[in-house]
Amino acid sequence: MQRGLISCILILSFVSPCLCFTRLNFGLETKESTYNVLDYGANGDGKSDNENAFLSAWNDACGTEGNATLVIPKGNVFMLKNLQLNGPCKANSIHIQLYGDIVAASMDEWGNDKLHLITISNVTSLTIDGGGSIDGNGKTWWEACRDCQRPSILYFYGCKDISVSSLNVANSPGFHVPINCSENLRFSNVNITAPGDSHNTDGFDLWNTKNVVFEDSVISVGDDCIAIKAQCSYINVTRLTCGPGHGISIGSLGVDQNYETAEEIHVKNCTFKGVTNGARIKTWEGAPGYARKISFENIILIDAENPIIIDQHYGTKHPNNNSVSMPVSDITYRGFEGTCAKQKAINLNCTINGCYNITLDQINIVSSDPKKKAQAFTINAHGKVHNVIPHVSGMLE
Ligand SMILES: *[C@@H]1O[C@H](CO)[C@@H](O)[C@H](O)[C@H]1NC(C)=O
Ligand SMILES: *[C@@H]1O[C@H](CO)[C@@H](O)[C@H](O)[C@H]1NC(C)=O
Ligand SMILES: *[C@@H]1O[C@H](CO)[C@@H](O)[C@H](O)[C@H]1NC(C)=O
Ligand SMILES: *[C@@H]1O[C@H](CO)[C@@H](O)[C@H](O)[C@H]1NC(C)=O
Ligand SMILES: *[C@@H]1O[C@H](CO)[C@@H](O)[C@H](O)[C@H]1NC(C)=O
Ligand SMILES: *[C@@H]1O[C@H](CO)[C@@H](O)[C@H](O)[C@H]1NC(C)=O
Ligand SMILES: *[C@@H]1O[C@H](CO)[C@@H](O)[C@H](O)[C@H]1NC(C)=O
Ligand SMILES: *[C@@H]1O[C@H](CO)[C@@H](O)[C@H](O)[C@H]1NC(C)=O
Ligand SMILES: *[C@@H]1O[C@H](CO)[C@@H](O)[C@H](O)[C@H]1NC(C)=O
Repeated sequence: MQRGLISCILILSFVSPCLCFTRLNFGLETKESTYNVLDYGANGDGKSDNENAFLSAWNDACGTEGNATLVIPKGNVFMLKNLQLNGPCKANSIHIQLYGDIVAASMDEWGNDKLHLITISNVTSLTIDGGGSIDGNGKTWWEACRDCQRPSILYFYGCKDISVSSLNVANSPGFHVPINCSENLRFSNVNITAPGDSHNTDGFDLWNTKNVVFEDSVISVGDDCIAIKAQCSYINVTRLTCGPGHGISIGSLGVDQNYETAEEIHVKNCTFKGVTNGARIKTWEGAPGYARKISFENIILIDAENPIIIDQHYGTKHPNNNSVSMPVSDITYRGFEGTCAKQKAINLNCTINGCYNITLDQINIVSSDPKKKAQAFTINAHGKVHNVIPHVSGMLE
């Protein structure tokens, strides 16, 4: 049966090579369609609002039969506010070539919808590259709108099979790249930059998302470099430099006593430089859920204030069970080397029901301040310690 099928295919391709080539040509011609925002009236003068031009170009790309390429050309600065690129798309895949620069309108030019500069929702199979940049013009917001709604730069919602590379994202009014309800994403060489004192300017934030790789990137912001929040799993962070910023945070989990989980998160070959926290796990007291199967390996520290920290008392007390937190287990810290800028080099601050199966292995953290001594604190933490400086005395079996 199978052999019959194969010889049938062989015979067909011998008898009708022309048919084969015609098909191939036909495919190439009709299945690559390129849309340039300039052809839709976009103006790269840095002042004109380009929402309509970008939206029309996107709609054509999205509606393409086959593959589509959306070009945002170099030598232009495209001003935008509140652009929504929605799927699902007819196109098999979309390639956004961001060669140029995008800049957000200043605060007073925004309308009522201040959630995100660019939203990409319900899109499957999207590549963004080209070496361009997106600047959120955050300086017009940080002081003037410290406690009001500030937009993020690039929000992914309900997306799948996304690859972003060679991109600079900077100066978000709020979070830089939040990601929600998505899967299979890869961010390579995506640098995120904002001043260290810009309030709540997280790099990446994840909710309800799985299978993500962050690699070869530099994140310098005013809050978490990457915050992995509720219902996320299979997240790898590799060869990333973080700082200034608040490090890589798992959580906080359990705010408002919600059931929240995080698992299979692996951080490898990263550098934490001038961060307030490094490898951090934080949970609220009383909330159900768990954080487990998390590893931080081969980490270089330069003046990191709290390089290794589990805080199970992160949030306020639950009236019924204020001395417990969701279990934190199977956590590995291996291969930390460098300096901390404050006293608590290792701080495993667990609730009475504790943290389990914690491994501290091959760690050498010294204080960058010769007058201070790096120390390890562990409370209710269970696990193993091997080859660790500073000395850890309180780890439970
Ligand atoms: C369409 O894009 C997909 C995914 O990027 C790629 O694998 C495929 O080769 C492309 N097809 C054509 C005809 O270019
Ligand atoms: C995305 O898809 C969800 C679920 O199908 C739908 O509820 C939502 O309205 C869509 N969002 C947009 C912006 O299209
Ligand atoms: C990101 O920063 C690194 C280190 O400075 C640099 O080598 C790389 O080219 C930057 N990436 C982009 C997209 O500019
Ligand atoms: C993530 O998506 C869920 C489901 O649509 C929504 O309820 C939630 O508010 C979103 N979270 C954020 C932070 O946008
Ligand atoms: C993520 O990291 C884990 C543990 O290091 C590894 O087994 C897995 O293959 C990685 N996944 C990807 C997609 O790189
Ligand atoms: C991490 O660094 C080590 C030592 O430099 C190297 O052998 C290993 O291949 C690196 N792994 C990754 C995933 O970058
Ligand atoms: C705390 O109590 C609440 C309500 O009784 C319960 O749902 C939750 O699971 C408890 N949390 C923990 C960590 O035991
Ligand atoms: C542990 O957390 C408690 C509650 O937030 C706090 O009072 C205590 O100082 C913390 N211990 C350490 C060593 O940081
Ligand atoms: C302890 O953690 C390690 C590393 O995360 C894991 O391989 C092992 O299965 C865990 N052991 C138990 C008893 O949970």
